[in-house]
Parts: sequence; structure tokens; C-alpha cells
Amino acid sequence: MKLEFDAHCKEIENFVPQNAQELEAFRLRFLGKKGLIPALFAAFKEVPNEEKKAYGLSINHLKTMAESVVEKFAADFSTAIVQSGEDLSRPAENFMPGALHPITLVRNEIVRIFERMGFTVAEGPEMEDDWHNFSALNFPADHPARDMQDTFFLSKNPDWALRTHTSSVQVRTMESQQPPIRIIAPGRVFRNESISSRSHCVFHQVEGLYIDKNVSFADLKQTLLEFAKAFFGDKTDIRLRPSYFPFTEPSAEVDIWWGLENEVDYRMTKGTGWLEIMGCGMVDPAVLQASGIDPEMYSGYAFGMGIERIAMQRFQIPDIRAFYENDVRFLRTFQGVL
Ligand code: DAH
Repeated sequence: MKLEFDAHCKEIENFVPQNAQELEAFRLRFLGKKGLIPALFAAFKEVPNEEKKAYGLSINHLKTMAESVVEKFAADFSTAIVQSGEDLSRPAENFMPGALHPITLVRNEIVRIFERMGFTVAEGPEMEDDWHNFSALNFPADHPARDMQDTFFLSKNPDWALRTHTSSVQVRTMESQQPPIRIIAPGRVFRNESISSRSHCVFHQVEGLYIDKNVSFADLKQTLLEFAKAFFGDKTDIRLRPSYFPFTEPSAEVDIWWGLENEVDYRMTKGTGWLEIMGCGMVDPAVLQASGIDPEMYSGYAFGMGIERIAMQRFQIPDIRAFYENDVRFLRTFQGVL
């Protein structure tokens, strides 16, 4: 018996594992449930009484030795694993997630809703000429929107300006594609306006355009209702009020039913419960003609909405300037919003 203990003792003392697997094999051999040491403990009751004391001391000694070997090398291996970056079980390091800008969040959501209805995204330049921004859209030469007060002109000849709306993308798309056309054009627009909590000289719009045979005002209304329900919730409703835009005939202003339950609703809707969100109408035949599409054969609708207004409503942001100040405390509040 003594010889057996001595042999185990030697083995434990001389044991130097090369890796974690060898150490684990050692642990199982001595300390595992079916290992040597538990077996020696189990044999304790067979040991004659006079030998029990020495036997007990010996197995306890073996056990302590084996445990301290396991503990010592386990610590070595775990630091080695961490240092070599191989420990797949360690928790991820902390990182500071960024956030999408609220304008991007709202734009993406609007785009997704219209994409589901078969629209594709179109783009145009922010620096536009008079033709695409005004003339082709049926703006008369003396229209006030062309005025210095509204437009940032860049040069006279050629007549470059910063686009005042994304409706210019309508013209560019119709010039380069034949119907059926079904696009939305999100983008940045510029107006020479004084900056306040409600208006800014740089803001964003989403333009929509659908041109095909037999497109009707009913199609327009149904599409906008579908959008309003997807964006503002199933219970919302829309109403169309007659309006005027040079590039659509007839034209309408679209309100969504916001509700009138509390003071905030009252303030937001000026006591009506309705919130104005966009302009729309049937594309004026003169615009189709100017863009190279036969108005005898095709008709279509267009709409345009401001992203900032919708984002201000969605996130309860009282001042439009917050979007452009890049205050990280403001931007951080959108972390994790998708
Ligand atoms: N371009 C208009 C604006 O800047 C918005 C708009 C109204 C676009 C009616 C449209 C439309 O396509 O049909 O205020």
C-alpha cells in the first residue's frame, strides 16, 4: 500500500503538462469521479482499523497535491490562452455603439414602406440647373420661388443653383426612363430662409413619382393612405385638401389624422386633430411633355414630403436646429433605434 502511495506521489510531483488537454487528462486520472483518489477514498472502509489513520493521512495528502498541481497549471494555461487571444469563451470587450441620425432613421423607414409597394430609389444632384429645378416643372418665369429670397443661386450662366426641392429628380428620371416609372427620391434641399426653431436653410425631402397608363387620382390616394397607415399606425386616416403647385393638376395638401386627446395633440395640430405632411397631385401634362413623355398616352401622380417635420413629430423634437448641431448628447438618444 505504501509503495502504491509513493508511486502516485512521485507521478504527481513530476507532472508537467504541455497543454490544457494534458492537464485535464491528469485531473480526470486522479481527481475525476472515476479517478484514482476517489477510488482510494472508497476503499477506506476495507482498510483494517489499525491502518486507517495512516491511510487517511496519505490519501488526503495525495488529494491536496493533485489539486494544487491542477490549480497551478490551470492558472498558467488560462493566462496563456487569454494572452494569445484564443479564449473564445471570454466576454466581448465594451464598445460604444454609434447611432443613426434621426433624419436617416425616418428616411429609411419611408423608403422601406414605398419599396414594399414597388417603388425604387432615384437620386439627383444637389446642384441643379434652372431647367430641372423650375422650368421643366412648369414654374412661370416670374414665379416667386425663383426669387433670390428663396433660392441659393450659384452662377448665372450656366444657371446653377442649389436645388430647392427633390421634385427636380422627377424631371431627371422621366428624361432618362420610359414608363412605367415608380420612384421615390430622398435627398437634401436648400432654401434661402432665415433659421428658426421651425425652419432651416438646409433640410430633407422625399419625392414620389408614378407614371404609367391610366394612373388615376384614386391610385394616388390609396398609395398615400397605405403609406400613412404603415408609418403612423393602422388607426390613422388621411384627408386631401385642394391646393396649388405649378407641376401638378389637380394638386392637394395631405393631412394625417393625428388625434386630439391631449394638450400636445392640440398644439401640434393647431386644435384640428389633423397634421399636414405633404403635397401631391397628378403630374401636369406640361411637365410630362417637357420631360419627354407623351401626355396623351401616360398619366401619373407625384408627391413630396419634408423629412424633418415628420421626424420632429415622431421623436417629439421641438426645434429643427437640433438635427444639424451634432450635439452628441442628442445623437446618443437614438442609439439602438433602427
Ligand atoms: N416640391 C414641393 C415642395 O417643395 C413638394 C411637392 C408638392 C412635391 C406636390 C410634389 C407634389 O411632387 O406633387 O414643397
